[in-house]
Amino acid sequence: MSAVRFLYDCDPGADDALAMLLALGRPDALDMIAVTCVAGNVGLDPVVTNARRILELAGRRDIPVYAGAAGPIMAPRGRVSIMHGSDGLAGSTLQPPTMPVADGHAANEISRIARAEGKLHICATGPLTNLALALLLDPELPAYVSAITIMGGAAFCPGNTTPLAEFNFAVDPHAAAIVFDSGIPITMLGLDVTRQAVVTEQMIRDAQAIGTPVAQEAAHLLVNYGSKDPCLHDPAAIAWMLAPEIFKTVHGHVAICTDSGPAAGQVVASVSERHLAGRSPNCTIVTIVDAEAFGRLFLDALKP
Ligand code: BDR
Ligand code: CA
Repeated sequence: MSAVRFLYDCDPGADDALAMLLALGRPDALDMIAVTCVAGNVGLDPVVTNARRILELAGRRDIPVYAGAAGPIMAPRGRVSIMHGSDGLAGSTLQPPTMPVADGHAANEISRIARAEGKLHICATGPLTNLALALLLDPELPAYVSAITIMGGAAFCPGNTTPLAEFNFAVDPHAAAIVFDSGIPITMLGLDVTRQAVVTEQMIRDAQAIGTPVAQEAAHLLVNYGSKDPCLHDPAAIAWMLAPEIFKTVHGHVAICTDSGPAAGQVVASVSERHLAGRSPNCTIVTIVDAEAFGRLFLDALKP
């Protein structure tokens, strides 16, 4: 079977960087055709820089990187994550990138690339602003997107940014609402499952033992980001695309709270017949991962 061509929308971010390394380590299964960047863990400029640093590390300067939204659609700007360090890569020693930023705004490029592909898979592991803008700019876009795999939300557990909301959805609740209302098939890997995909001492030792520059950088991120947030949120989304058989899911209807109050960004997940109340499910909600299998998948992808 040929590799799945996909566009990666992200805000690197240490765990986004680890997700990139996981995907790039499996060219047999995944073909990352473009990276679109959104402000999230850190501001847009460092995110765009970090995406290129990681691609250069992996020897993939051929993958274009597009800059996108510098802030959310309506929510207040300026929410950043404290988990990733001020550079977004936990104080990485990677050199500044030399590859250029590609021309075009991420939102326009998502639409252009999807139309060129005919049926594009998108994986999104940052605030959903770029995707929402693309949907607003191009209402026919859903016809050209086969699926969106999202890291975000907390369906049946507390949030990590507010008591009710996960970071990516808390940053831009309106964008998340637009994407979930788009009709595109969505798989959501929220905190329900990503809290099971944790960094272990063994993973760190194994990554260090591989010894390549890619594995050394991964080990740096696992140690320094993992000491603040041990959850490999964004790699879990890539792992779903690589090995859905190691996960368990439920189908449901997901709505996002766009109130400006304390519930902003909350996922309202309806799975029972009573809660669905006649609505069709719009989302595959991932709930469980085989953590050992996930760890093996991740480590194997780092090996040369
Ligand atoms: C999500 O928020 C960010 O900090 C991580 O990169 C991940 O995408 C986890 O809540
Ligand atoms: Ca992220």
